[in-house]
Amino acid sequence: MQKLIFGNWKMNLSADDAVALAKTAGTMPIDASRIKAAVFPSFTALASVRAALQGAPVSLGAQDCFWEKAGAYTGEISPSQLRELGCSHVLVGHSERRQNLNETDDMVNRKIRAALDANLTPVMCIGETDDARRRGLWSNVIAEQTAKGLAGIAVAGTQNVIVAYEPIWAVGTGRACAPQDAREAHALIMNSLIEIFGPAVAQKNFRIIYGGSVDARNIGEYLAMDGIDGALVGGASQRGASFAELVAAAQK
Ligand code: 13P
Repeated sequence: MQKLIFGNWKMNLSADDAVALAKTAGTMPIDASRIKAAVFPSFTALASVRAALQGAPVSLGAQDCFWEKAGAYTGEISPSQLRELGCSHVLVGHSERRQNLNETDDMVNRKIRAALDANLTPVMCIGETDDARRRGLWSNVIAEQTAKGLAGIAVAGTQNVIVAYEPIWAVGTGRACAPQDAREAHALIMNSLIEIFGPAVAQKNFRIIYGGSVDARNIGEYLAMDGIDGALVGGASQRGASFAELVAAAQK
């Protein structure tokens, strides 16, 4: 199964810089039998990045969506509008949104339903705070986020959901989670998924990727772990050279 290498560009890069980075990403040597790459630029750059990636083996995703299809929701963007711009994936419930915008598990749940209804693959981000990890509560936090984020969702057929385990203390800090600890968290998430969806659906339709200070030096260690299906990368995906190094290292 291919490993997923996803670049979350966050609120960085001008539209022109995003296009330049997309062009670099589009020419990186990618063995499609080994990895699947996707980039997640700002909304404002989606159309131009899509054009820059034309014909390249790199998919396009957005960093968020709203849960309604259309209507009086000033400033929001619907999943179908993202599809229209060529997105196949959408991040949901990134910790930066949970922290800065008070996004709740219920909002995450609604966004995932809406994304699936529009044939987008949601990437549900979960992860514990530093405090929760220190107090030994990390497993409760991620099991609860998994269960609440996916409550009542019917995943069927060819639909996929990706869960990104991003411990908050490892995001943007250079303090990456030890690969063994990430592996343990992924196993716990898979157990929660099996409880909710049963083993057949959990194992076929769900993939679990790790995020938090991933770079070219440590990517190989994560991908070597059982149950780690890829990485959601912030900083190291936001410059052409480091992104290309990371993608090369992921295929070693
Ligand atoms: P960093 O790779 O910069 O730690 O960011 C991780 C992340 O938040 C990806 O969504």
